[in-house]
Amino acid sequence: MAAFVKCPPARIGQRLEEVDTPSLVLDLDAFERNLAAMKRAVDGRKVRVRPHAKTHKSVDIARRQIADGAIGVCCQKVSEAEALAEGGIADLLVSNEVVGAPKLERLAALSKRVKLGVCVDNPENLRQLAALGCELDVYIEIEVGMGRCGIAAGEPAVALAREIARSTKLRFAGLQAYHGRAQHLRTMEERRSVIASAAEKVRQTKALLAKEGIACPIVTGAGSGTFMFEVDSGAWDEIQPGSYVFMDVDYGKNEWAAPLPRFEHALFVLATVMSRPKPEAAIVDAGLKASSVDSGMPGVWQRAGLTYAKASDEHGFVSVAAGERVALGEKLLLVPGHCDPTVNLYDQYVCVRGGKVEALWPVSARGALY
Ligand SMILES: Cc1ncc(COP(=O)(O)O)c(C=O)c1O
Repeated sequence: MAAFVKCPPARIGQRLEEVDTPSLVLDLDAFERNLAAMKRAVDGRKVRVRPHAKTHKSVDIARRQIADGAIGVCCQKVSEAEALAEGGIADLLVSNEVVGAPKLERLAALSKRVKLGVCVDNPENLRQLAALGCELDVYIEIEVGMGRCGIAAGEPAVALAREIARSTKLRFAGLQAYHGRAQHLRTMEERRSVIASAAEKVRQTKALLAKEGIACPIVTGAGSGTFMFEVDSGAWDEIQPGSYVFMDVDYGKNEWAAPLPRFEHALFVLATVMSRPKPEAAIVDAGLKASSVDSGMPGVWQRAGLTYAKASDEHGFVSVAAGERVALGEKLLLVPGHCDPTVNLYDQYVCVRGGKVEALWPVSARGALY
């Protein structure tokens, strides 16, 4: 049986209005301004940028970030890292714990092709990594308040570092201290204060490591909502912002002020109004299979009278304010509630500049969840 080949939603040179829907649209001008804003923010600061590719899953975007000064990128999954390595990205950090034989085998194979780092928070997992017999940069993930992975800061982390120091192949690359919950605390002050206490945990662990004579080359972490606090603290050497390239509705609700730059919405889902059942409602062809709703509903871009109220599988319910005109067949741009899981729903980015399709970029690591 011949393999089914999906028809791409757009052709290069087409006008945005002609693009089929739902599709994932990248506004190249806004995206490039976001890249430039990040570059300016860290210009002259002693910090490496290793953007998180879990957001975009794209070789094309990773290449642009590296051309802009990034040292490499982070991935969250081994298969994500494999997809980026396949596209020529040569310096990758799996900013996550890797557990289970199939993943560990693939991690070992990948370590022979690229410079590869991985996180660990458990002695048993560390022994599994050591048993692979391959050269790996190992970061100890410490818990700094997020309540996800991570060993306790201080002595428990140092005990793990001692074990790494005894290994002949594994290299102790430093610490990962990432506070995900801090990213969406709404006020600058809340985020500043949470990162200040995370910095204390980092400093305390570094001091104990130094006392034992264990060098801690890099402390990595931080996301788009806090990274300048980490940079200003001086406790981090590397930042991992992901969402800044796109922004989403959730991030749009944050307060943004110096020292954090204000990023722009660059990622959209193009949708078509497929039904007008009553004057106060429009149904679009983009439901929860087209835009993630875990962090709230998508926004309707530059249409104040339209509110995306709820999503079912293939349908989006848009409330229409009195006097607002919306025609059947009209195309609307939606801003995803949460950019990362939305991207994973698509095969490609339809890259648009000045209202015209300039490029189609594959979502290289789409579905790379293992
Ligand atoms: C370990 C790690 N680093 C960095 C990021 C990037 O965060 P953001 O997309 O908020 O910039 C994430 C996102 O979940 C993460 O899990």
